Amino acid sequence: MHFFQHKDGVLHCEECSVEEIAHEVGTPFYLYSYRTLVRHYQTFDSAFKTLPHLLCYSAKANSNVAVLRTFINLGGGVDVVSGGELFRALHAGADPATIVYSGVGKREDEIRYALQERILMLNVESYQELHVINGIASTMGIQAPISLRVNPDIDPQTHPYIATGIKKAKFGIDIDWALKWYQEAKELPHLKIRGVSCHIGSQLTETGPFVEALKRVKELVLKLKAEGIEIEYVDLGGGLGITYHQEEPPDPQEYAHAIIEEGKNLPCTFIFEPGRVIVGNAGILVTRVLYTKEGEKNFVVVDAAMNDLVRPTLYGAYQEIVSIKEKKGDEMVADMVGPICESGDFLARDRVMPRFEPGDLVAVMSAGAYGFAMSSTYNSRPRVAEVLVKDGAFHLIRERESYNDLIRGERIPSFLEG
Ligand code: LLP
Repeated sequence: MHFFQHKDGVLHCEECSVEEIAHEVGTPFYLYSYRTLVRHYQTFDSAFKTLPHLLCYSAKANSNVAVLRTFINLGGGVDVVSGGELFRALHAGADPATIVYSGVGKREDEIRYALQERILMLNVESYQELHVINGIASTMGIQAPISLRVNPDIDPQTHPYIATGIKKAKFGIDIDWALKWYQEAKELPHLKIRGVSCHIGSQLTETGPFVEALKRVKELVLKLKAEGIEIEYVDLGGGLGITYHQEEPPDPQEYAHAIIEEGKNLPCTFIFEPGRVIVGNAGILVTRVLYTKEGEKNFVVVDAAMNDLVRPTLYGAYQEIVSIKEKKGDEMVADMVGPICESGDFLARDRVMPRFEPGDLVAVMSAGAYGFAMSSTYNSRPRVAEVLVKDGAFHLIRERESYNDLIRGERIPSFLEG
């Protein structure tokens, strides 16, 4: 449940009129509801109250430091996948002992940074990485805390770009080899085995694949125990889906119930890395209609584009289009498109929508996850502002970029001058 509703015909975020915020901030911008963020976090967290667990919010979904701080203040850890995300998490005040780090391509400097900061564990994704980490830890004179991220070969029935726990995906270590590699890791003097991790995919709408993955991980943990390798943490990753359109994903309670049933006898602390389910429906993208073009095909041209929100273009994802001012009457079938010079630049395709006019404000719903985080400056479009509403007040949590920001760091070498 989220706190974006029409009141007196105008979309509000909590008690703030989105129209008024748009007048102050300009368009486009991302808008997040603090109350929704907190509610989603607490719902997820309390669903697991009977299971020892740590909730490590997945920074990749929305890595604004104010969003990170919101969850850190609620006691959460952070799941990171790069030195940059680690920097953000630490800057936002995360306790390093609650940070986990996954990723198939961790560079040496990133590994060293994570070890220096004493994070909870590195989720190792290849045999070579295991040895690289051991080598770096040896030069630092420490033991590196690790888990192996296993690939349990489970089809999560989601978009192929975000299915990660199947054999043909680049992620993790084949679960059938894991025992051997744990045995090898145990012999490496600068590694400290702490856990087993897995993440099978994103936007999952059934509990079955999660339970299946846990079953396989559980078998592995028991085999490891029999070999004298104790596992403190079982990290089940993220992946719980949300409703963008007509999906009916399990709610966090149902998801938790299924996991708890399968996992309750494992004497481990569970780690969850939810991203989308916490922030997805807590954010919208606000944009303004520039022009409409009616003909054989109708277009509504808005000032946000695929560089601001790439999900529709990249995955064919559905994001609901809502008029900020309730519009009664005429509707039309149209594409909502941005100003970018590509035909793939659309926010909605062949969609029934109100008959918009230039100047109208539009909300693209469910844009809190993988929205701003995946935005770029393609076509030299400065990245947009981000705003956080709490109760009746709004706070700018990221300034809109300027033209100067676009060329920051660029140089014209002397041979091109004069
Ligand atoms: N943990 C790991 C290791 C991950 O790779 C991911 C997401 C998560 C946790 C969080 O998953 P979530 O709870 O948000 O499903 N850009 C795509 C989604 C990519 C997901 C990548 N990994 C989209 O917009 O749909």
